[in-house]
Amino acid sequence: MTRQEIDFFNKIAPEWDSMEVRSLPVRINHILDLMQIEPGMNVADLGTGTGVLIPYLLQRVGSHGRVTAVDGAPGMLEIARAKYGKSGDNLTFLLADFEENMPVDRYDRIILYCVYPHLRYPVETLRNLIDHHLRPGGYVYIAFPNDETFVNHIHGEKKSTADMLPSAPALALRLFDNGFNVRVVEYSEDAYIIRLN
Ligand SMILES: C[S@@+](CC[C@H](N)C(=O)[O-])C[C@H]1O[C@@H](n2cnc3c(N)ncnc32)[C@H](O)[C@@H]1O
Repeated sequence: MTRQEIDFFNKIAPEWDSMEVRSLPVRINHILDLMQIEPGMNVADLGTGTGVLIPYLLQRVGSHGRVTAVDGAPGMLEIARAKYGKSGDNLTFLLADFEENMPVDRYDRIILYCVYPHLRYPVETLRNLIDHHLRPGGYVYIAFPNDETFVNHIHGEKKSTADMLPSAPALALRLFDNGFNVRVVEYSEDAYIIRLN
């Protein structure tokens, strides 16, 4: 993450949960159903922000699973920690830039939820996640609770440093061309999900 991006997310952290209107329980549950998150799994939530996915992930992986919530903006992570820090010892918070310092571990599911446009080196980062941080049979997911029109509208309005998000088929093709094994799981107004392994 750039300094500018960290500052941007630190600044909007206190308002994030009130601004986040798309991550309704029904949408999150639908997305996590499609990701087949099961009891006992080890899951990484990269760019967890204020932790919108955390309670859903904990519920799904259960007491024998683990969730690692990573974010590079201290302001965002602090809020996630304040909300869910007492949820149990199978939840770990990590302040890190996962493009530079991904925790040394292997996961069944690595989730980039509403994060992809912020990646600086998407191809290299996804390659590293797949080659060094997935368990056999695991998946990396790029997901949003909306299509690219919504994301690009928000990014244009808020003047964040983020790049524009291509449509799911266009991004899938781009990733395929870069040698990834890729599948569009769903592409609708309510769920943009690309699976990689
Ligand atoms: C748009 S927010 C989404 C937060 C959360 N996933 C949600 O949907 O509410 C993007 C988050 O990703 C984090 N982020 C972006 N790039 C990152 C990186 N390379 N390493 C760690 N965190 C990153 C930002 O700090 C921010 O909290």
